[in-house]
This record gives sequence, C-alpha cells and structure tokens, in this order.
Amino acid sequence: MAPLKFELVAKCSTTKARVGIMTLTHSTVNTPVFMPVGTQGTLKGLLPDQMLDLNCSIMLGNTYHLGHRPGPELLDAADGLHNFMRWKNSLLTDSGGFQMVSLLKLAEITEEGVRFQSPHDGSMMMLTPEHSMQIQNSIGADIMMQLDDVVDSKITGPRVEEAMHRSIRWLDRCIKAHKKTETQNLFAIVQGGLNPELRRQCAQEMIKRDVPGYAIGGLSGGEEKKHFWKMVTLSTDLLPTTKPRYLMGVGFAVDLVVCVALGCDMFDCVFPTRTARFGTALVRSGQLNLKTQKYKLDMRPIDEECDCVTCKNYTRAYLHTIVTQETVASSLLTIHNVAYQLKLMSEIRESIKNDNFPRYVKEFFRNMFPKKD
Ligand code: GUN
Ligand code: ZN
Repeated sequence: MAPLKFELVAKCSTTKARVGIMTLTHSTVNTPVFMPVGTQGTLKGLLPDQMLDLNCSIMLGNTYHLGHRPGPELLDAADGLHNFMRWKNSLLTDSGGFQMVSLLKLAEITEEGVRFQSPHDGSMMMLTPEHSMQIQNSIGADIMMQLDDVVDSKITGPRVEEAMHRSIRWLDRCIKAHKKTETQNLFAIVQGGLNPELRRQCAQEMIKRDVPGYAIGGLSGGEEKKHFWKMVTLSTDLLPTTKPRYLMGVGFAVDLVVCVALGCDMFDCVFPTRTARFGTALVRSGQLNLKTQKYKLDMRPIDEECDCVTCKNYTRAYLHTIVTQETVASSLLTIHNVAYQLKLMSEIRESIKNDNFPRYVKEFFRNMFPKKD
C-alpha cells in the first residue's frame, strides 16, 4: 500500500473539475492545490511558521539544489529534510533533471542519465534515475518525482519520441531504486511533447505501472495555448480518475482556473514568489507593480478583501517606499502572493463543492479582464 490516500469528495457537473482529499505521511491536502516552491527547503524570505499561518499544507523542495547542499549524508544525519528545516507539513521534490536542463544549458542527456557540469566547482556530474531516487529518499519528501527526459515543448521530430520512451524506461528504474515505499510516494511524469499519439502512448504505459499519482510534464514552456489545453485534456482523459493528477510548472491564475476545469488536481510554479521579490503583488484584476509612482500616496492595502498579514497591516504607499530598499518588502509581498494563490484554490474548491464552479470561472474572468467602455 502506498502511503497516499486520495478520496474524491465533489465533482463539477459540467466540467472535469473535482475536489479531493489527499492524505500523505505528513499532512492532509485539499485538492485542487497550489504548491509554493521552496528551492532550499523554505520559501525565500519566509519561515516555516509563516507558511503554516498561510495554511500551506504542501510545498516543493528541489533535488538538484538539495542533493548538493546539504547533500544526502547530512540529510540522512538530520533524519530528512522535514526535520532539518522544521517543516511539519508535506513536501514534494522534483527529480532534478528538468532543473538541470532548463537552468544549465550544458546538460547532456544519455540513456544512463543527465550529465552536467557542476555550477559549484565546474566538475562533471551525472544524475541517473537511481541517484535521483537516492537523494529523494534521503530528503524524505511525501511525494517524489521520477527522473524524466524533458524536451522543449516547441521542438518536434524523433527527439520527442526518444524522450517519451526514455521517460518510461527511467520510470521503471526509479520504481526499482525507490527504497522508502512505506513513507514516500513516487509519481510518474507523462511526456510526449505536443504530439497526441506520443502523449497517449506514454500515459498508457505509465498507467500500467500503477504508481500513486501522475504528473503531466513538458508543458508550460511557451507553447501555444490551444496545444497546451489539448495536451492537458488528452492526458486527464486517459489518467485514472482515482489518482491525483499534477500539472507541473503551471501557476498563473488564469491557467489554474482553466486547468482545474480540465481535471488537474495539483500545480506548482515559482512565479508568485519570484514576482513578489521583483515588487509585484497578485490581485483579482491582475498585478500591481508596487515600484511604480502611482502607489506613492496610496493608503489602501494591496487588496481590501485579503486577510493576509501584509494586507492587514501595511499600505501600498509603505510597500512602495520600502520595495527597492528593504529585504522585508520581499517577505511581505511573498506572504501576500502565496495567500492570493491559496485563496484562489480554496475558492475554486468551495465553488466545485457548491456546484457553482462555472459561475465562479465566469466571475474570475470578468474581474481579470473587465469590459472596457
Ligand atoms: N517542471 C515543469 N515541467 C516539468 C517536467 O516536465 N518534468 C519535471 N521533472 N519537472 C518539471
Ligand atoms: Zn494580502
């Protein structure tokens, strides 16, 4: 038995949106869920207690960063990352390959694994499916991702097919190498680029492996929306309804609303926290860039209806004043943006439960894209 229970509690009657309860080793997660990204085990600028105050039940860590520092030896000595970082709710770790390929242009992929030059000391290193599992087992996250072969969603041709087949073979190697099946869940990642036949084949093969959850990968790379939606739809049509579906790297509010309707349950993205550090706050109508002069004397909070610590205590004028000067401005904006994402997901869940989701979606788009007179 995998240490994951997924129970569906409500379904929208006109779309594929659903509400579930996912029980993991460290916490219970209400889905659809947005998972903030903490690269080194905490969100940049926030303490775990502040994340708890935001009702965050699951966040991301990263194998590539954590595998290097603190490293498996230290993580084993600390009895895993939860304990080391003092985070008591759930963690999900990505396998590391995607980060290497997207961050380090020098990564080279072979059947064995991903070869890359260490940005720390310049030496050549190899991340194999077995090595990724070993690091992720030492981290101890509730959910671990398989090492996959990711290609840019805009490329076509034999490389897309090769990466899809290799991702299936690497899934088998990850399943074999996973040593903590009592506490950690391994998720598969469906690849296949923008090719419907390859996606279908990949999903069908991975479904045979009967893992506790499935991710949809290789999207959100700047492909056209109609292709993106088509691939998500095709994937959720094939994946088992009884297991969580995780759409990787997606986190713009508009995409969250649409992809919940297409049947996705889990999302992550660096955008809300990264944009906070650049001085931008997320609101119902879009974004506020607090660096701009128009907030100089604006004595309102970022959002009158938001009940986060930042909105309860600080004005736009104050945030404008400190935004380029003080690191605490980053923390204040990060708190608000995470609160915004989590509230959006909570409203979505409530509307599905009340069989009100289509109306919620309409209202959401009316706020985001108001009629101009
Ligand atoms: N993050 C965003 N997309 C992907 C993907 O396709 N694979 C992995 N491992 N991580 C991702
Ligand atoms: Zn707020």
